Amino acid sequence: MSQRRFDDFNRHASDYRDVHTKNIRISGADSFYFAEFKVKEIMRFEENRKSYCLDLGCGDGTTEVFIDKHFPAVTVEAVDVSQASILEAEKKKLKRASFTVYDGETIPFEDNCFDMVLIASVMHHIAFNLHESVIKETLRVLKPGGRIYIFEHNPLNPFTRYLVKTCAFDRDARLLSHGYCKRLLTGAGYREVNTHFLLFFPRMKWIAPLLRREQSLGWLPLGAQYLCRAIK
Ligand SMILES: C[S@@+](CC[C@H](N)C(=O)[O-])C[C@H]1O[C@@H](n2cnc3c(N)ncnc32)[C@H](O)[C@@H]1O
Repeated sequence: MSQRRFDDFNRHASDYRDVHTKNIRISGADSFYFAEFKVKEIMRFEENRKSYCLDLGCGDGTTEVFIDKHFPAVTVEAVDVSQASILEAEKKKLKRASFTVYDGETIPFEDNCFDMVLIASVMHHIAFNLHESVIKETLRVLKPGGRIYIFEHNPLNPFTRYLVKTCAFDRDARLLSHGYCKRLLTGAGYREVNTHFLLFFPRMKWIAPLLRREQSLGWLPLGAQYLCRAIK
C-alpha cells in the first residue's frame, strides 16, 4: 500500500459545503459562515492593502468568494491538489481569482512574488513528513516582508476533536498542535511567528453578546481553531 501524502477531496468537491455544514450543525453556523470568518480575521491584520495572495489548498473556492467581497484590492492565485475541487471553484467565475491544480509539493509560481499566503484547514490533510517542504515552498514564493496565515483546528479543544472524528472528509486527518505549527514556521525561517486562538463560543443568536469578548481571548489555547501568522 502506498503511503498517504494528501487526503483525497475529489469525492467531496461538489458536496463539501453540505457535508461540512451538517457536521458542524451543533456550532450554530454553517460552512460559509466559517469561511467568511477566516477572511475577516485576515482583514484585521491586512486592512485593505493592495496585495497578491496565494491560497494553498483552496478547495471549492468559497474563500475566494469572501476575499472578493471584503478585499477589493486583493488578487488571488488559488491552488489545490484536487482537480474536481478546482473545477468547482472555477464555476464561481471570480474576476480577481485564478484556480490551478498542482502536485501538492512544488508551488507553480516564481520566487518572491506573493504578498501573502493563506493555508486554511489544509495542513492536517497533508502527511507530516511533507509539512516542512510545503512550508519552505511558501517561504520561497513570498516576497520579503510577505505574510503567511495558517488556520488549523485546535486539538486541545475537545469539541473540535469530536467534530473532526465525526466528519466524513476528516477520516484520515491528523491535527497539528499550535506549538508544532509555530516550530514549523520558525524552523523554515519565518520571523515574528504568532498564534491567535479563535472561535471560543458557538454561534447561536442568544450567544451573540459573548462574541464581542472573543478577541480578548486570543491568548487562551482553548479556541476551536487557531491562526498562526508569520512574516518572511
Ligand atoms: C478541508 S479542505 C479546505 C478548503 C479551503 N481551504 C477552505 O478553507 O474552505 C482541505 C483542502 O486541502 C487540499 N489539499 C490537501 N493536500 C494539499 C496540498 N499538499 N496542497 C494543496 N492543497 C491540498 C484538499 O484537496 C482540500 O481541498
